Amino acid sequence: MRVDIISIFPDYFGPLELSLIGKARQTGRLDVAVHDLRTWTSDVHRTVDDTPYGGGPGMVMRPEPWGQALDAVGPGTLVVPSPVGKPFTQADAHELASLDRLIFACGRYEGIDQRVIDDAADRMPVREVSLGDYVLFGGEVAVIVIMEAIVRLLPGVLGNADSLTEESHAAGLLEAPVYTKPASWRSRDVPEILRSGDHGRIARWRRDQSLLRTASRRPDMMSVYPVDDLDKADRKT
Ligand code: ADE
Repeated sequence: MRVDIISIFPDYFGPLELSLIGKARQTGRLDVAVHDLRTWTSDVHRTVDDTPYGGGPGMVMRPEPWGQALDAVGPGTLVVPSPVGKPFTQADAHELASLDRLIFACGRYEGIDQRVIDDAADRMPVREVSLGDYVLFGGEVAVIVIMEAIVRLLPGVLGNADSLTEESHAAGLLEAPVYTKPASWRSRDVPEILRSGDHGRIARWRRDQSLLRTASRRPDMMSVYPVDDLDKADRKT
């Protein structure tokens, strides 16, 4: 997979050299290029923003540098993190992980001139995505989050592919609590069932915990959980 990231703060992306993303890059599974948007400015001040038409607070990113930047690095699927985007989900992560070419455009200030998005959409798929109902300074941190969600789904990146099927959101439910050694810590014991070796009972316990957690923390997920996926034992929970 090839990923191009365009930002006025290329230094934000140092963490993409670390850990499993860094390893995926070293092994050639992932090719990432970070571009400074100011490369595509032509004035001495390397200006990327201006006041909004119609008035209002803050500044808007000018279309010209963005247009040139996207002409230079495109085409590919353009991902624009934004508080006005569609909520980014695990399903989106899977879809993006299946693509060969991604371009991330990091907006700052009050956002990017809308014509940049509309113009790009004539030539490439565009997705405006939001990480949640809050506002960040810009798209940079959001890109790192989205990259983590995508890269761990690329074949060969996670040592144990089972982690992907077991984890939260994979089955539409939150994962059960997890424990490791020691069996007793600060007078708190690991649930006996997990030490029983009875795989049937352990699976049942995990399933119950998933349902309880999801119902209490994410009633929104529970209400769309397919009723047909519940069995008799679930209904007792
Ligand atoms: N940029 C600013 N706020 C954001 C958010 N909530 N999600 C994605 N990108 C953003």
